[in-house]
Amino acid sequence: MTKQVATNITWHAGSVTREERHKAIGQKGATIWLTGLSGSGKSTIAVAFEQVLNQRGRIAYCLDGDNVRHGLNKNLGFSAEDRAENIRRIGEVAKLFADAGVITVTSFISPYRADRNLVRKLHDDASLPFIEVYVECPLDEAEKRDPKGLYKKARAGEIKGFTGIDDPYEEPEQADLVIHTAEQSVAESVQTLLDSVEERGLLDPQ
Ligand code: ADX
Repeated sequence: MTKQVATNITWHAGSVTREERHKAIGQKGATIWLTGLSGSGKSTIAVAFEQVLNQRGRIAYCLDGDNVRHGLNKNLGFSAEDRAENIRRIGEVAKLFADAGVITVTSFISPYRADRNLVRKLHDDASLPFIEVYVECPLDEAEKRDPKGLYKKARAGEIKGFTGIDDPYEEPEQADLVIHTAEQSVAESVQTLLDSVEERGLLDPQ
């Protein structure tokens, strides 16, 4: 648990309730947390899902590991501690977005169960929907795809601590959804996500 450092700070409540805010934009916020190996298809699915929701007039937003590491998390690397901090920060950001009413799709490897569980707890404590989606893809398939050429580099010893090669990936034990990207098309995966948000009533008019 990250220690609270600042003292003499007081929570300042807003005068608009979450319900009023969500009513104003006609949707409920939620976090859809994609986890899986590099090259498993997380970002591809996230971007396609965002597009479909956008076409339906919904507000969705992708938070992507590689992108966030260019800005907010540019001071973090890939040690277990840095990955934990990466996920903690994004968990907090996703929670704020969800509170704002945005359907937030995160695509981070998030290899550690404890880190993902912490983000789930953040959302549970705030009564915000959190859907953990395991974007499952066998390592040999992800390695075959190798869209960024990073598995090749890791195998050659040019990258140390690469997830799946010489760094762990802890599979979710109780994911809310599992998408098998070696067997499902992108469109099918997006449909699975859509069905899930619809079932949960997140797109219902308020
Ligand atoms: S996480 O483990 O902290 O969740 P994150 O999703 O932000 O990782 O970033 C993963 C992306 O960073 C990969 O898709 C890949 O492009 C790049 N990357 C660079 N080095 C590594 C590494 N050692 N392990 C995993 N991914 C890496």
